[in-house]
Amino acid sequence: MCGIIGYIGKREAAPIMVEGLRKLEYRGYDSAGLAVLSGGRIAVRKCSGRIQDLQSHLAENTPSGVSGISHTRWATHGPATDNNAHPHTDHSGNIALVHNGVIENYQSLRDVLEAQDHVFHSDTDSEVLAHLIGYEYYKKTEPDTQERLLDAVRAALRWVKGTYGIAVLHAELPNVMIGARLGSPLVVGLGKGENFLASDVSAIVRHTRDAIYLNDYDLVAIGPNDFDVYSLDGGAAQFEVSVVDFSEEQAELTGYPHYMLKEIYEQPESVLNAMRGRLSIEESTAVLGGLNMTAQELRTIDRIVLTGCGTASHAAMVGEYLIESLARIPAEVEISSELRYRNLPTDRDTLMFALSQSGETIDTLAAMREGQRKGHRVLGICNNVASTIARESDGGVYMHAGPEIGVAATKSFTSQVTIMTLLALTLGRMNHLSASDGKTIIDELKAVPEKIRTILKQDAQIKKIAQKYARSKGMLFLGRQFNAPIAQEAALKMKEISYIYASGHPSAELKHGIIALVSPETPCVFIAPDDSVFEKNVSNIEEVKARRGPVIAITTEGKTELERICDDVIYIPKCPDYLSPLLTIIPLQLFSYHIAVELGCDVDKPRNLAKSVTVE
Ligand code: M6R
Repeated sequence: MCGIIGYIGKREAAPIMVEGLRKLEYRGYDSAGLAVLSGGRIAVRKCSGRIQDLQSHLAENTPSGVSGISHTRWATHGPATDNNAHPHTDHSGNIALVHNGVIENYQSLRDVLEAQDHVFHSDTDSEVLAHLIGYEYYKKTEPDTQERLLDAVRAALRWVKGTYGIAVLHAELPNVMIGARLGSPLVVGLGKGENFLASDVSAIVRHTRDAIYLNDYDLVAIGPNDFDVYSLDGGAAQFEVSVVDFSEEQAELTGYPHYMLKEIYEQPESVLNAMRGRLSIEESTAVLGGLNMTAQELRTIDRIVLTGCGTASHAAMVGEYLIESLARIPAEVEISSELRYRNLPTDRDTLMFALSQSGETIDTLAAMREGQRKGHRVLGICNNVASTIARESDGGVYMHAGPEIGVAATKSFTSQVTIMTLLALTLGRMNHLSASDGKTIIDELKAVPEKIRTILKQDAQIKKIAQKYARSKGMLFLGRQFNAPIAQEAALKMKEISYIYASGHPSAELKHGIIALVSPETPCVFIAPDDSVFEKNVSNIEEVKARRGPVIAITTEGKTELERICDDVIYIPKCPDYLSPLLTIIPLQLFSYHIAVELGCDVDKPRNLAKSVTVE
């Protein structure tokens, strides 16, 4: 969480940073600020609120200068106030810092510094790091040089327990900016006569496509025309210059009112991209080269552990059903934040998958590292190809979904489920699935994008239904088998963007307690496609109706009998059970979107949230 952008070059830094911060706002939007270096002084402007608040603040007095650092905050230590906004300066006021991450031992460090008369102006852990760098810098009396600043940053970071992506400026050193990372992403953008530091390439892709994705324990010193990458313990570090593979337009709204809606509408294409080039008609299977495993190695897998957080964990749950039913391999989902601290008994032939759109979710990363420590092969399923999980995993499958900016995950979910299907098909074809079974799965999968398009055409009708239920007290989402995870995913969407309390459950769990919540003010949404448990769902719907609970059903074309017992029905095209989650989730994404819009909620930036959760 939190977004950083730093600029050093020939142009005015402030406008470049403000425009970059807009692209990073998905990472946090509690406060924003910048520091610009000019004439031996650092001018700081910051305020609570969003980037547009910072812009209004700057309108009166924009600092002029050709290097600067900036930040958009997701609050961890201390509320969203002006003082807690970044940048923070050190005791001397000469050193400014922006920080993404958490300094876990900040209180003890602060105590030490306060004992030495350092005065703090915020509640943040980050200000402690700014002071610590200043403390290390001014311990020495050498002339101001890049090496002295680098040494101070290095020394300060050795004190720190926690995670960081930082950018640091010194008032007397106009030609250098220092960056460092541990656990929080940081990218160097290489321009012509100018260079950048950013949490994410989306902030700099307008200016350059050449980027260096720093590794943990890397330090970097950038000037307008040069850069050096070091390791925290001294000496040069290895790096690679990559070319950013998406364009600025892909991260624009292109006429949609919200990124979430745009991303919902992109799903026919993103689902296709997840399977593109990965289906072998001749072999009736999927080909996932990125797994980096031979057929022999894949055949020895006797258990699969899937891990992720939030929406990614729901995609993993669909994966569990897919792998078990199509590949007949035991699979289980472990929430990453739990898995990282568990001592799960596994054996050598257990294969792990870490699912993460951003590839930066700290709990998923930690769970992956824990799996690797135990000697397991951990494969990543990520969208962000340059992310830490993508780079540290032992192989994996990219989603190729394009940038997902809306905080509510939509297209990444369907891409992950598509990849889970490809994986189940691959493993199934190595075990008991026949060539004709494989061919059927491929044919059905290829038909999914068009079926999603058909559902999107019902948007106006879904909007009307959403408006009807927008003022509900709470909502229950119910589904079975492949659609039990969809109930959870739909409830998460509803909660996070509309703030209506919602929960998702396997339909048959209703009578074990949940049915007590059913009332005319608490509608139930049943995900009841024409599958092996359709009749069971119908019985549960009857139970809700008998208690005067409104029911909205998502079902398959032709199942018109539901119109008799449900208040509203949304139809999806016919498809096999195992592919239904790719279709049933689409109307539910639209349903929560329209409810949030109806309630006037900030759909793309829901309160208290950030897109990528890089703190524990
Ligand atoms: O980037 P990741 O896929 O690792 O993110 C995991 C969750 O934080 C994320 O899916 C979150 O639950 C979404 N906001 C849900 O819409």
